[in-house]
Amino acid sequence: MSRLALSLALLIAGLGATASVAAQAPAGPVADPGPRGGAPAAGGALPGLGAAERAFFRGALAQFMTVDSVTGSMPGETGSGLSPRFNGNFCAGCHAYPAAGGSSPPTNPQVSLATLDGAKNLTPGFIYATGPVREARFVRNPDGTPDGSVHDLFTITGRRDAAGCRVAQPDFAAQVAAHNVALRIPTGVFGLGLVENTPDDALVADDRAHAIKKALLGIAGHFNRSANDGTIMRFGWKAQDKSLLVFAGEAYNVEQGVTNELFPNERETHPDCQFTAQPEDATFFTNTIHSGSTASDLSSATVNFAGFMRLSTPPTPATPTPSTLRGQQLFVDVGCEACHSQTHKTTRSIYTAQSFVTYHPYSDFEVHKMGTGLADGITQGSADGSEFRTAPLWGLGQRLFFLHDGRTSDVLAAIQAHASPGSEADLVIRRFNALTPAQRQDILNFLRSL
Ligand code: HEC
Ligand code: HEC
Repeated sequence: MSRLALSLALLIAGLGATASVAAQAPAGPVADPGPRGGAPAAGGALPGLGAAERAFFRGALAQFMTVDSVTGSMPGETGSGLSPRFNGNFCAGCHAYPAAGGSSPPTNPQVSLATLDGAKNLTPGFIYATGPVREARFVRNPDGTPDGSVHDLFTITGRRDAAGCRVAQPDFAAQVAAHNVALRIPTGVFGLGLVENTPDDALVADDRAHAIKKALLGIAGHFNRSANDGTIMRFGWKAQDKSLLVFAGEAYNVEQGVTNELFPNERETHPDCQFTAQPEDATFFTNTIHSGSTASDLSSATVNFAGFMRLSTPPTPATPTPSTLRGQQLFVDVGCEACHSQTHKTTRSIYTAQSFVTYHPYSDFEVHKMGTGLADGITQGSADGSEFRTAPLWGLGQRLFFLHDGRTSDVLAAIQAHASPGSEADLVIRRFNALTPAQRQDILNFLRSL
């Protein structure tokens, strides 16, 4: 037997073995145990950073939490540049739960934001108090050509700090009726500095290490590479963004309408709605903040946002139990781990104690075809309308909404949604469904321990 044939045989034996693992958890209906309670298991700085780096992190976190108004003159909204169209008014408004930097909070802040400070916005039907924070892309332009860009939900029309500005919201009800809206929810940004500092060759090697397993399970997948420098992009639901700094600059302009040194031009140029000098966020020449970190004080808010994300530590998983340990083994055995790759390692880092760090994001950072059920019709880079980045599962234990559009709060429903015509995950989901109820429960318990 050749070595390849032997490893294939061993692998098939291993893959087949799962169904015969004895059920040890109590029988009963399989159910998502729900979000883990207790203190937020995320939100701090990476362990081992030096004092100056920690001071920068604190200054940067404060900026991530600073609320923007149009000119910075509204009480409690001291940041400026919110304009003329927006989805949110501060990073941590959407990246909120279980701590600043996370994902959607239990009560959607966009509902009250629609009319904050006198604004006159209608809330589209897909925005409601108990639902997730969302942003909307349109699939097609009116002439039928592909669109794919974000159309902001709200405008500053009517706000007390935007006198004279009158621009209309898009007609979301009509766009929804025309099946032209693709929704996305925020992802957590914890630990992403480690992802950023993982070299391309390590991601490629990780893919190769899973190659036989992927082939047997019908999983393909590919990296979404930057059109600018050819390296692997890692961030966003379709791995469409290269770096945390690029994402920060883009988010600042797209989500909040704040122009910056990376994205210096307003998206909405109506002359009655321009209240500030451009770019609205930039490097400072003198210190006006005095946060305790001169580096943070003189840097643009955009650089601070990227710095907060880069230096934030990954979510801390719960202490393992016999059930979560069985669940983790089953997660590997049925093939979830072929996409949700457990372990990666950083390269040499300029930050104190961050070189060659092993971490567990549960993603291969590739994009995969996820079938007609999840397809959103949006192309970004080399990710087509049915392809998504393997969602990193760290922090899942305290996440409230799942999948790119936040369609469910139930982990089991999120797993079942992986299976639909054309999905690379079909076979794995069939293997998941062939497990005993107790085994499926172990996997859910494992996921809620992350
Ligand atoms: C209105 C809500 C909202 C606001 C405000 C917002 N975001 Fe986001 N964020 C999102 C959504 C939605 C996504 C997913 C976008 C996508 O992939 O298309 C996202 C994704 C991200 C990601 C990608 C993380 C990953 O998993 O790869 C980063 C980084 C990020 N945001 C940073 C920021 C920063 C920095 C700010 C403040 C300037 C900000 N966001 C403000 C909603 C928001
Ligand atoms: C073919 C690759 C692939 C396989 C196999 C796979 N997943 Fe996924 N998983 C994804 C992708 C891609 C997404 C994001 C899909 C989306 O949002 O549309 C995802 C999302 C998820 C989510 C939701 C995460 C979030 O942030 O909303 C959970 C939970 C999950 N997967 C668990 C599993 C489990 C458990 C298994 C095994 C039974 C599994 N996955 C197998 C690729 C895969």
